[in-house]
Amino acid sequence: MIAEMMHTAARALDKRIGIAPLAIIAMAAGTALVGCEERDSQETEPAPPDTVTAEETTPELLAEGQRIFRFDTFGDEKFWTDTLHMHEVVEQNVDPTTALAVGLKVDADVLPPGILEQVDLTSPATTVALLKMNAVVGIQATVDENNHITRLGVTCALCHSTVDNSVMPGIGRRMDGWPNRDLNVGAIIALSPAVTAEQKAVYESWGPGKYDPRFNMDGESTPLVLPPAYGLAEVENETYTAEGPISYWNAYVAVTQMHGQGNFSDERLGIDVQQSPDLVTSKLPALRAYQHSLPAPSPPAGSFDTAAAERGRALFDRTCATCHVGGTGTDNNSGTLHAPAETGVDGAYAARTANRAYRTTPLRGLWQHPPYFHDGSGATLTDVVAHYTRVLTLGLTTEEQQDLVEFLKSL
Ligand code: HEC
Ligand code: HEC
Repeated sequence: MIAEMMHTAARALDKRIGIAPLAIIAMAAGTALVGCEERDSQETEPAPPDTVTAEETTPELLAEGQRIFRFDTFGDEKFWTDTLHMHEVVEQNVDPTTALAVGLKVDADVLPPGILEQVDLTSPATTVALLKMNAVVGIQATVDENNHITRLGVTCALCHSTVDNSVMPGIGRRMDGWPNRDLNVGAIIALSPAVTAEQKAVYESWGPGKYDPRFNMDGESTPLVLPPAYGLAEVENETYTAEGPISYWNAYVAVTQMHGQGNFSDERLGIDVQQSPDLVTSKLPALRAYQHSLPAPSPPAGSFDTAAAERGRALFDRTCATCHVGGTGTDNNSGTLHAPAETGVDGAYAARTANRAYRTTPLRGLWQHPPYFHDGSGATLTDVVAHYTRVLTLGLTTEEQQDLVEFLKSL
Protein backbone atom coordinates (compact mmCIF):
# COMPACT_ATOMS: atom_id res chain seq x y z
CA MET A 1 0.00 0.00 0.00
CA ILE A 2 2.75 2.41 1.05
CA ALA A 3 4.92 1.14 -1.79
CA GLU A 4 2.08 1.77 -4.18
CA MET A 5 1.58 5.28 -2.86
CA MET A 6 5.25 5.93 -3.35
CA HIS A 7 5.18 4.57 -6.87
CA THR A 8 2.35 6.88 -7.73
CA ALA A 9 4.12 9.78 -6.10
CA ALA A 10 7.34 9.07 -7.93
CA ARG A 11 5.57 8.64 -11.26
CA ALA A 12 3.72 11.90 -10.79
CA LEU A 13 6.96 13.65 -10.02
CA ASP A 14 8.69 12.05 -12.97
CA LYS A 15 6.12 13.65 -15.22
CA ARG A 16 6.03 16.96 -13.44
CA ILE A 17 9.74 17.62 -13.28
CA GLY A 18 10.58 15.84 -16.50
CA ILE A 19 14.33 15.67 -16.10
CA ALA A 20 16.30 12.97 -17.88
CA PRO A 21 17.08 10.58 -15.04
CA LEU A 22 20.05 8.88 -16.71
CA ALA A 23 21.88 12.13 -17.28
CA ILE A 24 21.37 13.17 -13.66
CA ILE A 25 22.68 9.89 -12.30
CA ALA A 26 25.62 9.96 -14.68
CA MET A 27 26.41 13.39 -13.30
CA ALA A 28 26.07 12.13 -9.75
CA ALA A 29 28.34 9.17 -10.42
CA GLY A 30 30.79 11.50 -12.10
CA THR A 31 30.98 13.62 -8.97
CA ALA A 32 31.74 10.58 -6.88
CA LEU A 33 34.19 8.83 -9.15
CA VAL A 34 36.03 11.61 -10.88
CA GLY A 35 35.27 14.78 -8.97
CA CYS A 36 38.82 16.11 -9.35
CA GLU A 37 38.16 19.78 -8.93
CA GLU A 38 40.80 21.89 -7.28
CA ARG A 39 43.34 19.60 -5.77
CA ASP A 40 45.05 21.06 -2.74
CA SER A 41 47.44 18.63 -1.14
CA GLN A 42 47.49 20.60 2.10
CA GLU A 43 43.85 19.73 2.64
CA THR A 44 44.47 16.00 2.35
CA GLU A 45 45.40 14.81 5.80
CA PRO A 46 46.01 11.13 6.46
CA ALA A 47 43.36 9.41 8.59
CA PRO A 48 44.46 9.56 12.23
CA PRO A 49 45.40 6.30 13.99
CA ASP A 50 42.53 4.37 15.50
CA THR A 51 43.44 4.58 19.16
CA VAL A 52 41.48 6.49 21.77
CA THR A 53 43.69 8.97 23.61
CA ALA A 54 42.85 10.97 26.72
CA GLU A 55 42.48 14.21 24.72
CA GLU A 56 39.92 12.42 22.59
CA THR A 57 37.48 12.02 25.41
CA THR A 58 37.09 15.67 26.41
CA PRO A 59 33.44 16.67 26.79
CA GLU A 60 33.93 19.38 24.14
CA LEU A 61 35.19 16.94 21.54
CA LEU A 62 32.45 14.42 22.29
CA ALA A 63 29.79 17.13 22.07
CA GLU A 64 31.22 18.21 18.73
CA GLY A 65 31.29 14.58 17.55
CA GLN A 66 27.67 14.12 18.59
CA ARG A 67 26.68 17.25 16.71
CA ILE A 68 28.42 16.01 13.58
CA PHE A 69 26.94 12.50 13.88
CA ARG A 70 23.41 13.83 14.34
CA PHE A 71 23.28 17.01 12.31
CA ASP A 72 26.18 17.39 9.85
CA THR A 73 25.40 16.83 6.19
CA PHE A 74 28.95 17.62 5.00
CA GLY A 75 27.26 19.64 2.25
CA ASP A 76 25.44 16.60 0.83
CA GLU A 77 22.45 18.77 -0.04
CA LYS A 78 24.03 19.10 -3.47
CA PHE A 79 23.06 15.45 -4.01
CA TRP A 80 19.84 15.00 -2.02
CA THR A 81 18.41 18.37 -3.14
CA ASP A 82 20.04 19.37 -6.43
CA THR A 83 20.31 15.88 -7.91
CA LEU A 84 17.63 13.72 -6.26
CA HIS A 85 15.08 16.53 -5.64
CA MET A 86 14.13 14.92 -2.35
CA HIS A 87 13.07 18.30 -0.97
CA GLU A 88 10.21 18.33 -3.48
CA VAL A 89 9.35 14.68 -2.95
CA VAL A 90 9.11 15.21 0.81
CA GLU A 91 7.21 18.47 0.68
CA GLN A 92 4.60 17.16 -1.72
CA ASN A 93 4.18 13.51 -0.96
CA VAL A 94 5.60 12.41 2.36
CA ASP A 95 3.14 12.87 5.21
CA PRO A 96 4.31 11.76 8.68
CA THR A 97 2.45 8.45 8.45
CA THR A 98 4.33 7.60 5.25
CA ALA A 99 7.61 8.83 6.75
CA LEU A 100 7.15 6.56 9.78
CA ALA A 101 6.16 3.68 7.51
CA VAL A 102 9.50 3.87 5.66
CA GLY A 103 11.24 3.84 9.03
CA LEU A 104 12.09 7.50 9.57
CA LYS A 105 12.19 8.41 13.26
CA VAL A 106 11.07 11.52 15.13
CA ASP A 107 13.06 13.04 18.00
CA ALA A 108 10.44 13.67 20.69
CA ASP A 109 12.79 15.86 22.75
CA VAL A 110 12.43 18.82 20.38
CA LEU A 111 8.64 18.60 20.00
CA PRO A 112 6.55 21.15 21.91
CA PRO A 113 4.32 19.32 24.44
CA GLY A 114 0.98 18.19 23.06
CA ILE A 115 1.89 19.01 19.47
CA LEU A 116 1.21 15.52 18.14
CA GLU A 117 -2.42 15.66 19.24
CA GLN A 118 -2.92 18.89 17.30
CA VAL A 119 -1.36 18.06 13.95
CA ASP A 120 -2.58 16.08 10.94
CA LEU A 121 -0.30 13.09 10.57
CA THR A 122 -1.60 12.51 7.06
CA SER A 123 -0.52 15.88 5.70
CA PRO A 124 2.90 16.49 4.13
CA ALA A 125 2.75 20.00 5.65
CA THR A 126 3.19 18.35 9.05
CA THR A 127 6.38 16.68 7.82
CA VAL A 128 7.64 20.08 6.72
CA ALA A 129 6.79 21.48 10.17
CA LEU A 130 8.67 18.59 11.85
CA LEU A 131 11.69 19.22 9.62
CA LYS A 132 11.55 22.92 10.50
CA MET A 133 11.79 21.92 14.20
CA ASN A 134 14.74 19.65 13.31
CA ALA A 135 12.78 16.69 14.65
CA VAL A 136 13.35 14.11 11.91
CA VAL A 137 16.32 11.92 12.84
CA GLY A 138 19.06 11.98 10.20
CA ILE A 139 17.44 14.57 7.94
CA GLN A 140 18.40 18.23 7.88
CA ALA A 141 16.20 20.67 6.00
CA THR A 142 16.08 24.38 5.46
CA VAL A 143 12.48 25.60 5.38
CA ASP A 144 11.71 29.12 4.20
CA GLU A 145 9.11 31.54 5.58
CA ASN A 146 6.47 30.19 3.18
CA ASN A 147 7.04 26.68 4.53
CA HIS A 148 8.82 25.43 1.45
CA ILE A 149 11.83 23.16 1.82
CA THR A 150 14.71 24.83 0.02
CA ARG A 151 17.55 22.46 1.01
CA LEU A 152 17.55 18.90 2.31
CA GLY A 153 20.39 16.60 3.24
CA VAL A 154 21.11 13.51 5.34
CA THR A 155 23.40 12.75 8.29
CA CYS A 156 25.03 9.68 9.84
CA ALA A 157 22.08 9.39 12.24
CA LEU A 158 19.75 8.47 9.38
CA CYS A 159 21.06 4.90 9.31
CA HIS A 160 22.83 4.61 12.67
CA SER A 161 20.34 6.10 15.14
CA THR A 162 16.86 5.15 16.15
CA VAL A 163 14.47 6.28 18.92
CA ASP A 164 13.14 4.51 22.00
CA ASN A 165 9.45 4.72 20.89
CA SER A 166 8.57 6.36 24.23
CA VAL A 167 5.87 8.55 22.67
CA MET A 168 4.61 6.12 20.04
CA PRO A 169 6.24 3.73 17.57
CA GLY A 170 8.83 5.77 15.65
CA ILE A 171 8.68 8.76 18.02
CA GLY A 172 10.85 9.02 21.12
CA ARG A 173 14.32 9.82 22.41
CA ARG A 174 17.36 9.38 20.20
CA MET A 175 19.43 6.20 20.53
CA ASP A 176 22.68 7.01 18.73
CA GLY A 177 24.65 4.09 17.36
CA TRP A 178 21.61 1.81 17.30
CA PRO A 179 21.09 0.81 13.69
CA ASN A 180 17.73 1.83 12.29
CA ARG A 181 16.51 -1.58 11.21
CA ASP A 182 13.13 -0.18 10.16
CA LEU A 183 14.61 2.32 7.76
CA ASN A 184 13.97 1.52 4.11
CA VAL A 185 16.72 3.59 2.52
CA GLY A 186 16.13 2.00 -0.87
CA ALA A 187 12.42 2.84 -0.87
CA ILE A 188 13.25 6.43 0.09
CA ILE A 189 15.82 6.92 -2.70
CA ALA A 190 13.44 5.20 -5.12
CA LEU A 191 11.01 8.10 -4.58
CA SER A 192 13.38 10.43 -6.36
CA PRO A 193 12.37 11.43 -9.88
CA ALA A 194 16.06 11.30 -10.80
CA VAL A 195 16.47 7.53 -10.58
CA THR A 196 15.87 5.32 -13.61
CA ALA A 197 13.32 2.52 -13.68
CA GLU A 198 16.17 -0.01 -13.46
CA GLN A 199 17.69 1.72 -10.46
CA LYS A 200 14.29 2.04 -8.84
CA ALA A 201 13.79 -1.71 -9.11
CA VAL A 202 17.12 -2.31 -7.38
CA TYR A 203 16.50 0.24 -4.62
CA GLU A 204 13.06 -1.21 -3.96
CA SER A 205 14.50 -4.72 -3.69
CA TRP A 206 16.64 -3.95 -0.62
CA GLY A 207 13.92 -3.76 2.01
CA PRO A 208 14.02 -2.29 5.53
CA GLY A 209 17.24 -2.17 7.53
CA LYS A 210 19.50 -2.69 4.54
CA TYR A 211 21.68 -0.62 2.27
CA ASP A 212 24.30 -1.35 -0.37
CA PRO A 213 27.20 1.09 0.06
CA ARG A 214 28.74 0.15 -3.29
CA PHE A 215 25.77 0.01 -5.68
CA ASN A 216 26.50 3.52 -6.98
CA MET A 217 30.14 2.58 -7.48
CA ASP A 218 30.04 -0.81 -9.24
CA GLY A 219 26.37 -1.19 -10.22
CA GLU A 220 26.00 -4.48 -8.32
CA SER A 221 23.51 -5.05 -5.56
CA THR A 222 24.10 -7.26 -2.52
CA PRO A 223 22.57 -5.14 0.27
CA LEU A 224 24.04 -5.20 3.77
CA VAL A 225 22.30 -5.14 7.12
CA LEU A 226 22.78 -1.68 8.70
CA PRO A 227 25.28 -2.39 11.49
CA PRO A 228 25.45 -0.80 14.93
CA ALA A 229 27.93 2.07 15.33
CA TYR A 230 28.31 1.35 19.07
CA GLY A 231 30.72 -0.92 20.95
CA LEU A 232 33.61 -0.17 18.57
CA ALA A 233 36.14 1.46 20.93
CA GLU A 234 38.45 -1.56 20.91
CA VAL A 235 37.80 -2.62 17.32
CA GLU A 236 40.66 -1.81 14.94
CA ASN A 237 38.97 -2.13 11.56
CA GLU A 238 35.44 -1.30 10.55
CA THR A 239 32.93 -2.90 8.21
CA TYR A 240 31.98 -6.50 7.53
CA THR A 241 35.15 -6.82 5.47
CA ALA A 242 37.46 -4.75 7.71
CA GLU A 243 38.13 -2.20 5.01
CA GLY A 244 39.97 0.12 7.38
CA PRO A 245 39.84 2.08 10.64
CA ILE A 246 36.76 4.03 11.61
CA SER A 247 37.82 7.32 10.01
CA TYR A 248 38.60 5.57 6.74
CA TRP A 249 35.07 4.25 6.58
CA ASN A 250 33.43 7.44 7.86
CA ALA A 251 35.13 9.36 5.05
CA TYR A 252 34.12 6.74 2.49
CA VAL A 253 30.46 7.00 3.44
CA ALA A 254 30.41 10.77 3.90
CA VAL A 255 31.96 11.40 0.48
CA THR A 256 30.81 8.55 -1.77
CA GLN A 257 27.43 7.59 -0.25
CA MET A 258 26.00 10.63 1.50
CA HIS A 259 27.68 12.66 -1.27
CA GLY A 260 29.08 15.18 1.15
CA GLN A 261 31.78 17.51 -0.07
CA GLY A 262 35.25 16.33 0.86
CA ASN A 263 38.20 14.12 0.11
CA PHE A 264 38.36 10.36 -0.11
CA SER A 265 40.95 8.21 -1.84
CA ASP A 266 41.54 4.48 -1.91
CA GLU A 267 43.92 3.06 -4.48
CA ARG A 268 42.62 -0.45 -3.83
CA LEU A 269 39.21 0.62 -5.13
CA GLY A 270 40.47 3.11 -7.70
CA ILE A 271 38.63 5.97 -5.98
CA ASP A 272 40.13 9.44 -5.75
CA VAL A 273 37.74 12.22 -4.85
CA GLN A 274 39.10 15.65 -3.97
CA GLN A 275 36.63 18.46 -3.44
CA SER A 276 37.33 21.94 -2.20
CA PRO A 277 36.57 23.12 0.39
CA ASP A 278 36.82 19.75 2.15
CA LEU A 279 33.92 19.64 4.64
CA VAL A 280 34.70 16.09 5.84
CA THR A 281 38.34 15.51 6.81
CA SER A 282 38.62 17.98 9.68
CA LYS A 283 35.50 16.48 11.33
CA LEU A 284 36.73 12.89 11.40
CA PRO A 285 38.58 12.98 14.76
CA ALA A 286 35.55 14.30 16.69
CA LEU A 287 33.26 11.91 14.84
CA ARG A 288 35.50 8.98 15.71
CA ALA A 289 35.72 10.02 19.37
CA TYR A 290 31.93 10.18 19.58
CA GLN A 291 31.42 6.76 18.00
CA HIS A 292 34.08 5.27 20.29
CA SER A 293 32.20 6.72 23.27
CA LEU A 294 29.00 4.82 22.41
CA PRO A 295 28.82 1.66 24.52
CA ALA A 296 27.02 -1.46 23.35
CA PRO A 297 23.66 -1.61 25.16
CA SER A 298 23.30 -4.18 27.94
CA PRO A 299 20.61 -6.82 27.55
CA PRO A 300 17.33 -5.90 29.28
CA ALA A 301 16.91 -7.43 32.74
CA GLY A 302 15.37 -10.89 32.55
CA SER A 303 15.80 -11.16 28.78
CA PHE A 304 17.88 -14.34 28.99
CA ASP A 305 18.25 -17.42 31.20
CA THR A 306 21.43 -16.93 33.24
CA ALA A 307 22.03 -20.60 34.07
CA ALA A 308 21.63 -21.61 30.42
CA ALA A 309 23.87 -18.67 29.35
CA GLU A 310 26.57 -19.89 31.74
CA ARG A 311 26.45 -23.37 30.16
CA GLY A 312 26.42 -21.68 26.73
CA ARG A 313 29.56 -19.72 27.59
CA ALA A 314 31.54 -22.96 27.94
CA LEU A 315 30.27 -24.13 24.55
CA PHE A 316 31.13 -20.76 23.03
CA ASP A 317 34.68 -20.91 24.42
CA ARG A 318 35.06 -24.35 22.89
CA THR A 319 33.52 -23.80 19.45
CA CYS A 320 33.40 -20.09 18.65
CA ALA A 321 36.18 -18.33 20.54
CA THR A 322 38.85 -19.32 18.05
CA CYS A 323 37.53 -16.50 15.85
CA HIS A 324 35.36 -14.49 18.26
CA VAL A 325 38.29 -13.78 20.60
CA GLY A 326 38.62 -11.65 23.72
CA GLY A 327 36.45 -8.74 24.81
CA THR A 328 35.76 -7.47 21.30
CA GLY A 329 34.78 -10.87 19.92
CA THR A 330 36.88 -10.44 16.79
CA ASP A 331 40.22 -11.90 15.71
CA ASN A 332 40.57 -9.10 13.18
CA ASN A 333 42.47 -6.86 15.60
CA SER A 334 45.43 -9.09 14.80
CA GLY A 335 44.67 -8.85 11.10
CA THR A 336 42.80 -12.11 10.50
CA LEU A 337 40.13 -12.29 7.80
CA HIS A 338 37.96 -15.25 6.80
CA ALA A 339 37.06 -16.56 3.38
CA PRO A 340 33.26 -16.77 3.04
CA ALA A 341 33.36 -20.58 2.91
CA GLU A 342 34.96 -20.78 6.36
CA THR A 343 31.71 -19.73 7.99
CA GLY A 344 29.39 -20.77 5.16
CA VAL A 345 28.22 -17.29 4.21
CA ASP A 346 27.63 -15.81 0.78
CA GLY A 347 30.78 -14.38 -0.80
CA ALA A 348 29.24 -12.00 -3.33
CA TYR A 349 29.58 -8.89 -1.18
CA ALA A 350 33.15 -9.64 -0.10
CA ALA A 351 34.13 -10.09 -3.74
CA ARG A 352 33.22 -6.43 -4.36
CA THR A 353 35.48 -5.08 -1.59
CA ALA A 354 39.17 -4.38 -1.15
CA ASN A 355 39.76 -7.27 1.26
CA ARG A 356 37.53 -9.86 -0.44
CA ALA A 357 36.98 -11.68 2.85
CA TYR A 358 34.95 -11.15 6.02
CA ARG A 359 35.99 -9.79 9.38
CA THR A 360 34.83 -11.89 12.33
CA THR A 361 32.04 -9.57 13.44
CA PRO A 362 32.62 -8.12 16.92
CA LEU A 363 29.80 -9.46 19.09
CA ARG A 364 28.09 -6.55 20.83
CA GLY A 365 24.48 -5.86 21.79
CA LEU A 366 23.43 -8.93 19.81
CA TRP A 367 19.99 -9.01 21.45
CA GLN A 368 19.36 -5.55 20.00
CA HIS A 369 20.00 -5.95 16.31
CA PRO A 370 18.60 -8.95 14.43
CA PRO A 371 18.96 -10.09 11.66
CA TYR A 372 22.56 -11.35 11.70
CA PHE A 373 25.43 -11.81 9.25
CA HIS A 374 26.31 -9.17 6.66
CA ASP A 375 23.33 -10.02 4.48
CA GLY A 376 20.85 -10.75 7.26
CA SER A 377 20.77 -14.44 6.36
CA GLY A 378 20.46 -15.35 10.05
CA ALA A 379 17.03 -14.07 11.08
CA THR A 380 17.44 -14.96 14.77
CA LEU A 381 20.23 -16.09 17.09
CA THR A 382 18.66 -19.56 16.96
CA ASP A 383 19.19 -19.50 13.18
CA VAL A 384 22.80 -18.34 13.65
CA VAL A 385 23.59 -21.22 15.99
CA ALA A 386 21.80 -23.73 13.74
CA HIS A 387 23.83 -22.37 10.82
CA TYR A 388 27.14 -22.89 12.63
CA THR A 389 26.09 -26.31 13.94
CA ARG A 390 25.52 -27.38 10.35
CA VAL A 391 28.41 -25.60 8.59
CA LEU A 392 31.09 -26.37 11.17
CA THR A 393 29.60 -29.85 11.86
CA LEU A 394 29.61 -29.12 15.59
CA GLY A 395 27.27 -31.94 16.56
CA LEU A 396 25.52 -29.80 19.19
CA THR A 397 22.30 -31.16 20.70
CA THR A 398 19.15 -29.03 20.68
CA GLU A 399 19.70 -28.20 24.38
CA GLU A 400 23.31 -27.17 23.73
CA GLN A 401 22.21 -24.95 20.85
CA GLN A 402 19.63 -23.31 23.13
CA ASP A 403 22.29 -22.71 25.80
CA LEU A 404 24.54 -21.09 23.22
CA VAL A 405 21.67 -18.83 22.13
CA GLU A 406 21.08 -17.75 25.75
CA PHE A 407 24.78 -16.89 26.02
CA LEU A 408 24.65 -14.80 22.82
CA LYS A 409 21.59 -12.97 24.20
CA SER A 410 23.69 -12.01 27.24
CA LEU A 411 26.40 -10.23 25.22
C1 HEC B 1 22.50 5.20 4.05
C2 HEC B 1 22.82 4.53 5.28
C3 HEC B 1 24.11 4.90 5.97
C4 HEC B 1 24.56 6.16 6.32
C5 HEC B 1 23.91 7.51 6.04
C6 HEC B 1 25.79 5.95 7.04
N1 HEC B 1 26.06 4.62 7.13
FE1 HEC B 1 27.48 3.78 8.28
N2 HEC B 1 27.08 1.97 7.45
C7 HEC B 1 26.05 1.69 6.59
C8 HEC B 1 26.20 0.34 6.09
C9 HEC B 1 25.29 -0.39 5.14
C10 HEC B 1 27.37 -0.18 6.69
C11 HEC B 1 28.00 -1.56 6.48
C12 HEC B 1 29.15 -1.41 5.50
C13 HEC B 1 30.06 -2.59 5.43
O1 HEC B 1 30.21 -3.28 6.43
O2 HEC B 1 30.66 -2.82 4.37
C14 HEC B 1 27.88 0.87 7.56
C15 HEC B 1 28.98 0.73 8.39
C16 HEC B 1 29.35 1.64 9.35
C17 HEC B 1 30.30 1.40 10.41
C18 HEC B 1 31.02 0.09 10.69
C19 HEC B 1 30.41 -0.69 11.80
C20 HEC B 1 31.22 -1.93 12.08
O3 HEC B 1 30.71 -2.88 12.66
O4 HEC B 1 32.38 -2.00 11.69
C21 HEC B 1 30.43 2.58 11.10
C22 HEC B 1 31.29 2.83 12.30
C23 HEC B 1 29.58 3.55 10.45
N3 HEC B 1 28.93 2.95 9.40
C24 HEC B 1 29.47 4.89 10.81
C25 HEC B 1 28.85 5.85 10.00
C26 HEC B 1 29.05 7.28 10.12
C27 HEC B 1 29.92 7.98 11.14
C28 HEC B 1 28.28 7.87 9.17
C29 HEC B 1 28.21 9.33 8.79
C30 HEC B 1 29.46 9.87 8.27
C31 HEC B 1 27.57 6.79 8.49
N4 HEC B 1 27.98 5.59 8.99
C32 HEC B 1 26.57 6.99 7.54
C33 HEC B 1 25.03 2.58 6.26
C34 HEC B 1 25.08 3.95 6.46
C1 HEC C 1 36.10 -19.38 11.44
C2 HEC C 1 35.83 -18.24 12.26
C3 HEC C 1 34.50 -18.19 12.99
C4 HEC C 1 33.99 -19.12 13.88
C5 HEC C 1 34.59 -20.44 14.32
C6 HEC C 1 32.72 -18.57 14.35
N1 HEC C 1 32.48 -17.37 13.76
FE1 HEC C 1 30.87 -16.18 14.07
N2 HEC C 1 31.47 -14.96 12.56
C7 HEC C 1 32.63 -15.13 11.81
C8 HEC C 1 32.58 -14.25 10.68
C9 HEC C 1 33.65 -14.13 9.61
C10 HEC C 1 31.36 -13.56 10.76
C11 HEC C 1 30.81 -12.56 9.75
C12 HEC C 1 29.96 -13.32 8.74
C13 HEC C 1 29.02 -12.45 7.93
O1 HEC C 1 28.70 -11.34 8.36
O2 HEC C 1 28.57 -12.90 6.87
C14 HEC C 1 30.69 -14.02 11.96
C15 HEC C 1 29.45 -13.56 12.41
C16 HEC C 1 28.82 -14.02 13.55
C17 HEC C 1 27.60 -13.45 14.07
C18 HEC C 1 26.80 -12.31 13.48
C19 HEC C 1 27.04 -11.00 14.21
C20 HEC C 1 26.30 -9.85 13.61
O3 HEC C 1 26.19 -8.82 14.29
O4 HEC C 1 25.83 -9.95 12.45
C21 HEC C 1 27.29 -14.18 15.20
C22 HEC C 1 26.11 -13.95 16.11
C23 HEC C 1 28.30 -15.19 15.36
N3 HEC C 1 29.23 -15.05 14.32
C24 HEC C 1 28.31 -16.12 16.35
C25 HEC C 1 29.17 -17.22 16.33
C26 HEC C 1 28.99 -18.38 17.17
C27 HEC C 1 27.87 -18.57 18.19
C28 HEC C 1 29.98 -19.25 16.84
C29 HEC C 1 30.22 -20.65 17.38
C30 HEC C 1 29.14 -21.59 17.20
C31 HEC C 1 30.79 -18.64 15.82
N4 HEC C 1 30.25 -17.41 15.53
C32 HEC C 1 31.90 -19.20 15.25
C33 HEC C 1 33.65 -15.99 12.10
C34 HEC C 1 33.54 -17.11 12.91
